[in-house]
Amino acid sequence: MLQAAFDERGIDARHELLDVTVPQLAGVIDEVRGGDFLGAQVTIPHKERVVPLLDRLTEEAQATGAVNTITKEGKRLVGHNTDVAGFRVALDRLVGRQKMPKQAIVLGAGGGSRAVTYGLITGGFQRVVVFNRHLHRAEALVKHFTKSAAHMELRAMPWHVSIIEAELLKTRILINATSIGLHGDVSPLPAEIIPAGLLVMDLIYNPPQTRFLRDAVAAGADTTTNGLEMLLHQGTAQFELWTGQSAPLDLMRERLDAALAAREESADDAAADASAASAAAGSGAPAVPAGE
Ligand SMILES: NC(=O)c1ccc[n+]([C@@H]2O[C@H](COP(=O)([O-])OP(=O)(O)OC[C@H]3O[C@@H](n4cnc5c(N)ncnc54)[C@H](OP(=O)(O)O)[C@@H]3O)[C@@H](O)[C@H]2O)c1
Repeated sequence: MLQAAFDERGIDARHELLDVTVPQLAGVIDEVRGGDFLGAQVTIPHKERVVPLLDRLTEEAQATGAVNTITKEGKRLVGHNTDVAGFRVALDRLVGRQKMPKQAIVLGAGGGSRAVTYGLITGGFQRVVVFNRHLHRAEALVKHFTKSAAHMELRAMPWHVSIIEAELLKTRILINATSIGLHGDVSPLPAEIIPAGLLVMDLIYNPPQTRFLRDAVAAGADTTTNGLEMLLHQGTAQFELWTGQSAPLDLMRERLDAALAAREESADDAAADASAASAAAGSGAPAVPAGE
């Protein structure tokens, strides 16, 4: 979507993928500093590790302790976190014309959760509860935001179904920021504890309709959304930071949809191949359709 945006705006830039190991990170950042770069994107597992290698952080990057975007001011590198801006747009879409709720539950305490939690803290929420499999990570997140969340109640709670169930009855917004559902048709929560009437977001965008979202719909959710809107808008924010121009939103959405559809198709093909192979292996026949 970013290359399409550069091309559309006539900007002579190439969006390239670099596979960077942890020991290579500092060297690559030096290359970005000295070379002919507009900036860089940073993703798992480097979002936090890159922070000390930069010269300045924006408020969101400072507050979350994570950087997903680097821009350049001469030879100085500035770290941004556009996941927060992307989440804010996604949240606004989820809530629509209703009044913004004041309470939310966040599942997960990784990098995605940090962007979400900061978006909620700065979005006027009064009570946010973060559940995580490893409680210490949720507690560290809450500690990290002590200052930003001084005006509201931000709590870490242990991942016990009965506690989550009780908290779900006190909230309007439920967000999955774990990676459960990214691989395999699984949900972080038992379907039967999801109450009706919630606004539900899954940060996962591929698959587009996770079991978590399907269970929420079946339970009578008010509205649900996947992570596509957040992904799109963190990308449009990056484009604007690098170029100073407005992003071609519709084109970027189109390209993103097309890329995800292509990925889904190839995943379906792979699954069909695998099931043909296992059926064939089960019957002792060669793994090719009959007649070929
Ligand atoms: N839409 C977007 O733009 C966007 C942006 C950022 C992230 N995301 C998505 O959000 C998800 C999380 O990303 P991240 O960067 O936060 O990853 P991360 O830092 O690796 O965190 C993963 C989270 O998932 C939890 N988790 C993983 N497997 C689990 C399991 N089997 N049982 C219980 N908890 C489990 C982890 O819990 P523990 O701490 O206990 O291990 C942790 O809270 C991913 O699916 C990612 O694709 C989407």
